[in-house]
Amino acid sequence: MSRLRLSGISRSFGAIQALDGVSLELAPGEVMGLMGDNGAGKSTLVKIIAGNYRPSKGEIRIDDKPVEFHRPIDAQRAGIEIVHQNLALCDHLTAASNVFLGREPMKRFGPIRVIDYDTMRSTSAGLFARLKSETRPRDVVRRMSGGQRQAVAIARTLLSEARIVLLDEPTAAISVRQVAEVLDLIRNLRDHGISVILISHRMPDVFAVADTIAVLRRGNLVAAKRAADSSPEEVTGLITGAIEYA
Ligand SMILES: Nc1ncnc2c1ncn2[C@@H]1O[C@H](COP(=O)(O)OP(=O)(O)O)[C@@H](O)[C@H]1O
Ligand SMILES: [Mg+2]
Repeated sequence: MSRLRLSGISRSFGAIQALDGVSLELAPGEVMGLMGDNGAGKSTLVKIIAGNYRPSKGEIRIDDKPVEFHRPIDAQRAGIEIVHQNLALCDHLTAASNVFLGREPMKRFGPIRVIDYDTMRSTSAGLFARLKSETRPRDVVRRMSGGQRQAVAIARTLLSEARIVLLDEPTAAISVRQVAEVLDLIRNLRDHGISVILISHRMPDVFAVADTIAVLRRGNLVAAKRAADSSPEEVTGLITGAIEYA
């Protein structure tokens, strides 16, 4: 059984064909590295899976059942969470507040309802522990490293029992040591049976964690294979077009 199956997904923006008939399958607990040059269609593909964009053509199946996402909340309800390229965190808020942003738990205080900060702190502490991250709930995002920011964004995806997590360039702008932290976060998601699509330009990161590798070139899927059956050289060739198809 596949957790996610895309069949013939196409999407155009005016005259630009961003995706052209992409078909992919993702198993439970599989980490897929999604690679391709700038403009290849990577972000568009994960945004379609996350309900940000609608496909012009094609079908999405979750656990072998066809789904149609009109808005991001539809995809969230199906267990899909996305961490966008820009992370979309609030710099002046704490880690706990960012984890719960827009989903704050409330408690009764006499006749009024107030935000339940205790629950936010204890739940997010539990999520950071589960991710083996040293981030503390009261830390303010502004003072965090890039790796910790990713931990906050990923902890957010775990609030809602995500079964598919989409990561758009999580290691693009962080130091080598922080990259190791983020790769550990991804292994943690996998160990909890969560399927992951990791978009990255960094070949070593992808080969370090991915079970499978998919390559997009100008909106076309030119490879989807086991990482063990490929190599950085082959993937580079597929990205540039030196290798047509694999
Ligand atoms: N909202 C949009 N409006 C118009 N064109 C877009 C939009 N989003 C993406 N595109 C175009 O679609 C193509 C694929 O973009 P994108 O999915 O962002 O690629 P990648 O993430 O691989 O760099 C590009 O030509 C890009 O300019
Ligand atoms: Mg992109």
